[in-house]
Amino acid sequence: MKCDLLTLFPGVCSAYLDESILKRARAKNLLDVRILNIRDFTTDPHRSVDDYPFGGGAGMVLKPEPIFRAMDFLRQDGESRRVVYLTPQGTPFSQALAEAFAAERRRFVFLCGRYEGIDERVKTLVDEEISVGDYVLTGGELAALVIIDAVTRLVPGALGDERSAEHESFTWGLLEYPHYTRPREFRGLGVPQVLLCGNHREIDLWRRKQAFMKTMLVRPDLLDKLQLSAEDRELLDEIKKSFPGASPDD
Ligand code: ADE
Repeated sequence: MKCDLLTLFPGVCSAYLDESILKRARAKNLLDVRILNIRDFTTDPHRSVDDYPFGGGAGMVLKPEPIFRAMDFLRQDGESRRVVYLTPQGTPFSQALAEAFAAERRRFVFLCGRYEGIDERVKTLVDEEISVGDYVLTGGELAALVIIDAVTRLVPGALGDERSAEHESFTWGLLEYPHYTRPREFRGLGVPQVLLCGNHREIDLWRRKQAFMKTMLVRPDLLDKLQLSAEDRELLDEIKKSFPGASPDD
């Protein structure tokens, strides 16, 4: 993934990008991120990036000029770009969108807003608006980092263990099954016997069942989107019947 982050708080972004998997992905050139400070594209002595809203009202609005100037600067290299504006008013981000972004060959621009909003004319520069959830963050930085993180995990070679991304919760449509590691006994808490038995067919079945149960309890909406095999349908029916209060037709 290649991207440019347009932000007023570069330190917020670099702090996360300089750790762990994203740091390693950058070192391996699997993730190419440039962070640009919108304030560096101001021309007035106060380096002001915001102003009062026309029509009155509380709060400040991000001015168009520094953002247009930053985009002019980026476009000088002639590379084609997909410009994403992070806002709670955008299309919801999802694993499906992460997969589409991972397959994108164009360079991304993630435009992070702040304050009460952004001058509407900036939207003429934007290809799409994305939200990471139905809540309001202080700015787009965390949202951009969420997207970069989720997409980088899908880039081949970015994770140490190649299997881990495809086994992750949303990749196979269910929530995760429980994990355990040593010690076998900790403060009186044990580990399910099946995980110690060495029978991988049984272990896989137990994990799938656990994932179904967790999903049914916490995110039943995800089950409706799944294409179930005959074996999974049987497993799910068996789980449903074992739930207290289940009716015979459930
Ligand atoms: N900026 C503020 N809140 C946001 C959200 N929920 N998603 C994306 N960008 C945002």
